[in-house]
This record gives sequence, structure tokens and C-alpha cells, in this order.
Amino acid sequence: MKKEQNDLMQKIVSLCKRRGFIYPSSEIYGGFAAVYDYGPYGVELENAVKREWWRAMVQLRDDIVGLDSSIFMHPRVWEASGHVGGFSDPLAECKNCHARLRVDHLLEDVGAAADEKMSEEEINKIFTEHKEKIKCPNCGKSDFSDAKKFNLLVKSNLGNFTGDWDKEPSYLRGETCQGIYINYKNILDSARVKVPFGIAQIGKAFRNEITARQFVFRTREFEQMEMQYFTHPENEMEEYEKLRQARWQYYLNLGFKEENIKWHKHENLVFYAKEAYDIEYNYPFGFKELEGVHARGNYDLSQHSKFSGQELNYIDPKTSEKYVPHIIESSVGVGRTVLAALCEAYTEEKMEDGERIVMKFPRKLAPVKIAVFPLLKNKPELVEKAREIYDLLKMDYMCEFDDNGNVGKRYRRQDEIGTPFCVTIDFDTIEKDNTVTVRDRDTMAQERVQVDELDKYFREKF
Ligand code: GAP
Repeated sequence: MKKEQNDLMQKIVSLCKRRGFIYPSSEIYGGFAAVYDYGPYGVELENAVKREWWRAMVQLRDDIVGLDSSIFMHPRVWEASGHVGGFSDPLAECKNCHARLRVDHLLEDVGAAADEKMSEEEINKIFTEHKEKIKCPNCGKSDFSDAKKFNLLVKSNLGNFTGDWDKEPSYLRGETCQGIYINYKNILDSARVKVPFGIAQIGKAFRNEITARQFVFRTREFEQMEMQYFTHPENEMEEYEKLRQARWQYYLNLGFKEENIKWHKHENLVFYAKEAYDIEYNYPFGFKELEGVHARGNYDLSQHSKFSGQELNYIDPKTSEKYVPHIIESSVGVGRTVLAALCEAYTEEKMEDGERIVMKFPRKLAPVKIAVFPLLKNKPELVEKAREIYDLLKMDYMCEFDDNGNVGKRYRRQDEIGTPFCVTIDFDTIEKDNTVTVRDRDTMAQERVQVDELDKYFREKF
């Protein structure tokens, strides 16, 4: 990472902690690697991200329904999905500083590639060919152990009191979509859906990630927003193109600059995949995967059919044609979207009296929509009026009441958490004309608005 990029990342991480967006987990116990907690503004931002995704994916679509499946599933699910046998990352240890490193990432940095399908032997062959050029990102030395494949599934000791799968551990789910596949038949039988249709889900997933860097980009516990779309085999690629377009447009609607997203086509496809693209975001550490949009053929349903012994077909009600639907998938992490939204919003602006940091979130993502201030905290009549207005506005918007410090300081704080509007109640409000000052976060322009007009004013703004 270049110095400016590193600085920008550090500034975002530090703002997140200072202003209550994201904290490293278990800090009072010395931390817990690759796990993060979302603070008061972080959880609002997360909720807004999930709301926007759900709106685009379920609310506005007649052909997609929602699901909330469990984190725990029968261990056989993870065998059928291929995760028990194949869900692994190649790991090597730096013999100098003992850092554990992802060999596929080290190879990528020197223009070589190792993919999921390769055996340990194949990966080590490529690794050996390039070892001299590779330096440990931690200590700069070039002395590594051989690569070893490391399974990413997180095991649990969830009780198996019936003993029917007692030799196998139960896992915390490694991806949410398996819960979708195993509910395909339930939804088909109960929700009046017809192919093509989709099932969408937001939920936690867990992976034993080896390298845990880059803040919330790669964590061991994270949330996914996944949608699996079931198609007729012949229409898979046509639907895939539509999904790709919809997902691109979604990020533009979310307020991301088009130059900050790009498509990355997978060259080495797993054997069942028809096509796979990622949408990458321009994070401070470079363009990296934000979302995967993949055409997966009928692999998922066929595997679950094989392992469960249940037919997972579709019978077309018009033609009576029977087939296993093909699946196209959209899969994105909440944390990666939150991080992209933070990067997109982070702005430093020169002012006459110094610099201001302002998080220019689009209004729909802003954690707090409106802050309400009494001009002076020691004037009970101002505080009372401000409370009255705050109590009204909070019925419709996430609001914050703030009477700490002077108004300048309060603006600074609200700018840093990205609040689009601040409303100040002063003596004119109570003694003269029942108006308040509304200050716009981005332009810093202020205007007087009648208290009775505030409802209409904000309805237009949001
Ligand atoms: N069902 C497909 C699937 O899970 P993936 O590429 O492994 O595919 C999909 O993950 C998305 O989930 C990624 O594009 C990313 O946004 C998010 N994701 C995956 N691993 C993550 C991690 N360790 N931390 C945060 N987000 C992660």
C-alpha cells in the first residue's frame, strides 16, 4: 500500500473508533483478531446498508422472496456444498517473523496465481518458482515454509444428543446461501413462486480467515447479503446479464462514484460455473472484491439432491417439463459495503479557519439524519423548545439532540458522523417568528425555516 493510501485508511479507521462507528472486538482484554464491533453510528450505517439492499432485492422485486435461515445446519450440508473437502486457503509461515500468510495473495502480488482447485502440491510448485521474488509483507524477509491448505469452516461443539451425526462437528455456517438451497423446496411448496424466482437472505457467516488485515474488509465473523436466483437452464445466461446490470445500477443508486467500481472477470472458473464476475471497489488498499455475481449452473441443487436423497426439481406448470433449476447468485458482505460507504463519504475540506472532516454519506445511508441543538444549553426556554422539536422529528427520522459545547463544535461532530442537517433553536424561534436555522452538511449554507414547515421541508429533502 502506498503511503497516502495507508494514511487515508488509518484516518478512516481512527475516525471510526473516535466517533463510534467501529471498534476492534474485546479491546479491554487486549483485542481479538479479525473481529469487530459496530458502535452507535456503525450499527445505524449497517442497518441502512441492509435496508437499501433488502429494498432493492426484495421489496421492489415481484420475483424475489426473503428468508432467514439458521446459522447451524446439518453437517451433511457442508459436505454436499464441498466446504468440508475443499473450502480452504493456502497458508505459509514466514520463518523469520512467524507471520502466517495467504500464499495466493503473495503470488498475486508478483503476478502469479493459485486458485481453489489446485492441490497443495501444485500450489507449492508455483510458490517455489516465485519464492525468491516474494517478500514477507510483515518483516520484508524472503524465507517461507511450504504452503499448507487450511480449512476455513469454523467448528462448534453444538450438542448431538441423538448420535446420528456424532462423528462430525457441526459448523457455524461459512456462507448464508446454503440455507437458501436447503429451503428451495419449502419455498417452492409454500410461497407461490414460479421459475424464474429468487430467494434473498441477510445473515452472519463465519470463516477461519488466516490473514486478517484491512479492517472490516476481511473478518472472521461477518454478515452476507445473498440472493440466489433459480432459472430454466436455457435462460441462465440471459438472467445472469440482467442481474449483473441490476447490481451495477444498485451501487450507482447507493451513491458510489462510477469510477470507484469495476468488473473483474474470473479466468479460472470452478468446473460447474458458467461465468463469474466480481464487482470491485476502489478501497484505499486498491480495487478489491466487494461483491460476487456468479452463474453456478445446477451444481448446488444437484449436490443437495444427491446428499439428501430428496428430489430438488422444478416442474413447469404450463409445459410439465421437469428440470433442476440453474442458479445465478449475487453475494456481498455488509462490512465490505459499510467500508466502501465510509471510503466514499470521507472528505477533508480546507476552510478559512483550518480543515473540516466531513462524512458525505448519501442521505439514505447517513446514520443520523437530523441533529437538533438549542443555541445555549443554560437557557431553559431554548432547551425546552429544542426538545419539543426533537421529539417531533424523531418520530420520522433518526435524530440526535446535542447541547454540548458551542454550536461550532457541535457542527464539527455532526460533520464527522455525516449528519445531513442540523437544526438550531435560538431566541428568534421563541421570541420572534417561530423559525429555526437549518444548516446543510455539504454546502454549510444556513436557512431559516418555519417550525410548522419542518415536516414538509424534510420530507422533500429525504
Ligand atoms: N456464496 C458465495 C460466497 O460466499 P464469497 O466470494 O466467498 O462467495 C461473498 O463471499 C462475499 O462475502 C464477498 O464478495 C464479500 O463481500 C463477503 N465476504 C466473504 N468473506 C468475507 C470476510 N472474511 N469478511 C468480510 N466479508 C467477506
